[in-house]
Amino acid sequence: MENDKIAKIIPFYGGTRPDLFEIERRCMDRDGKVIQFLESNVPNGIVLDVGAGNGYTAEKLLTESRLVIPMEPDEKMIDQSKQLIWSNGVAQSIPFHSNTFDGMYSTWAFFFDGISDIDEGLKEIERVVKNTGRIIIVDNYGNDEFCSFAPQDISSSVAAWVERGFDYEIIDTEFVFDTVEEARKLLTFYFGEQGQNVSKTRLEYKVVAYSKTLTKG
Ligand SMILES: C[S@@+](CC[C@H](N)C(=O)[O-])C[C@H]1O[C@@H](n2cnc3c(N)ncnc32)[C@H](O)[C@@H]1O
Repeated sequence: MENDKIAKIIPFYGGTRPDLFEIERRCMDRDGKVIQFLESNVPNGIVLDVGAGNGYTAEKLLTESRLVIPMEPDEKMIDQSKQLIWSNGVAQSIPFHSNTFDGMYSTWAFFFDGISDIDEGLKEIERVVKNTGRIIIVDNYGNDEFCSFAPQDISSSVAAWVERGFDYEIIDTEFVFDTVEEARKLLTFYFGEQGQNVSKTRLEYKVVAYSKTLTKG
């Protein structure tokens, strides 16, 4: 059973390179536009954060009327110092009963074209979220300065999400690094040699948020 779960985890660098993940989380969306979008669109009640990483977003969205449960499969990512109720699990097999949550969101986790079976994860989300609950998936929109450094296309497929019945909104945000060296360090790690070409601290970054209100038959 445990081996089955491990096989379903998409490898992520954050647990073994916390120094780089610290740069990513501090500099990506520095002005908090994605957080503002989620703050306004994630429902109150009990909400699941799928692939929560170190709990950065969950901690920000937690309020008196919204209990966010971060679910993360990589023990090395889980930050126990944050005042959060952690759950360890994968999108394809969520360790909660059906109809537990008023909503769910996921930021840059699991729901990636070509890397994961998005529909297998969505089926689980639809099981654990209540009827009329809201589902929000955040990913790269592409067509921006940040993605232009990637040797391959790292944008998500809007058409495929619309086909699944999701609306979408584009959030114009930025990576804001403290120094050019810091920008080069992260982008070289992500993209290889092309990352060396970064010569400024602010990079335009477009994010897409897919939303759907669940209607169960
Ligand atoms: C790019 S990070 C994003 C973390 C966090 N959502 C954020 O915005 O900072 C992707 C996360 O998804 C987790 N992950 C990997 N495989 C997963 C799976 N099958 N189901 C859910 N989460 C998964 C990784 O361990 C990692 O923490």
